[in-house]
Amino acid sequence: MVKKLLVLGIESSCDETGVALVACEAASGSPEVPRLLAHALYSQIEMHQAFGGVVPELASRDHIRRVLPLAQEVLDGAHCTLQDIDVVAYTRGPGLAGALLVGAGVACALGAALARPVLGVHHLEGHLLSPFLSADPPQFPFVALLVSGGHTQLMRVDGVGRYALLGESIDDAAGEAFDKSAKLMGLDYPGGPLLARMAEEGNPKAYALPRPLLHSGNLDFSFAGLKTAVLVQSQKMVAAGGVNQFEALPRVQQCDLAASTQAAIVDVLVKKSMTALKETGLTRLVVAGGVGANRHLRAELNAACAKRQIRVHYPELHLCTDNGAMIALAAGMRLQSGQQEASMAYAFDVKPRWPLDTL
Ligand code: KG4
Ligand code: ZN
Repeated sequence: MVKKLLVLGIESSCDETGVALVACEAASGSPEVPRLLAHALYSQIEMHQAFGGVVPELASRDHIRRVLPLAQEVLDGAHCTLQDIDVVAYTRGPGLAGALLVGAGVACALGAALARPVLGVHHLEGHLLSPFLSADPPQFPFVALLVSGGHTQLMRVDGVGRYALLGESIDDAAGEAFDKSAKLMGLDYPGGPLLARMAEEGNPKAYALPRPLLHSGNLDFSFAGLKTAVLVQSQKMVAAGGVNQFEALPRVQQCDLAASTQAAIVDVLVKKSMTALKETGLTRLVVAGGVGANRHLRAELNAACAKRQIRVHYPELHLCTDNGAMIALAAGMRLQSGQQEASMAYAFDVKPRWPLDTL
């Protein structure tokens, strides 16, 4: 029987503490995808909402409070003990320095106490590989559209650790465009999912908003101008409506602006993804990161891909946003592919800024 490795993964790069346990085959080069045994997540969103965004110091302190109880919950859920863990993985970056240090410190302390190796994982590699835990896992090579709160990137992915950047946002990320537009509409942080919910009731053609860099001829994105256009449009609507704030407008108008904003973001993401597939000649698309949960984006990508006989893969909805499962998975896949060995050194550093294509 092939020996299984149990990998504990810890995610703490931003405002979610995630812990998970995956089982993977120890043999290097094994084609079997690691299997998720249990995962647990604590979202700090409520705590940060009062401040309209993530407060880094509060995030770090809360990760300290949550991480060990979550680890215990995961071990209990998988009917395992600490002694069963073979490798401890953590998010090494990119992210908030203090928050990353909590996960890294706990992982290395656990590793040292159990005499088990540890492995630092790239957060975006976790997102990018997360569809491998879905019921319909992809196969290499593929184009990846990474759309999170901090990043918007198109990558060519030829295998684990073989990532070539095709294009990225030169300013705001897609998630940021959702969140900043939502804030202008009076929605709580993070407004992306709330704006998406309002958009379902609205008319996406109600207001003409810019599609930045749509015809730029390259695969880069720019979303900063969209937020300004949303601001100008909302101010016009407030003035025309004779009210003192956007939230006082009739709901149908609010939903129309939400739908128009979402359509502008989604149009650009879909168009550039199709261009990336055409330019690379690849026939698979993988979508990952928090914005990958957006239903309109999924529907539009599905339609565009169906027309071109492209297979499109997503993570399970609950694994789109930050979680520990993707970190344990990425660690397991790196070990299996022989890309990296876990270390018994327990000296750690974190990388708040860390381009994925330098891995
Ligand atoms: O990947 P993620 O959890 O964290 C980062 O690594 O940044 O992504 C969070 C981002 C936030 O900007 C959030 O508003 C956005 O993903 N998001 C959505 C939806 N769900 C999450 N944006 C639009 N529609 C959604 N349904
Ligand atoms: Zn993320």
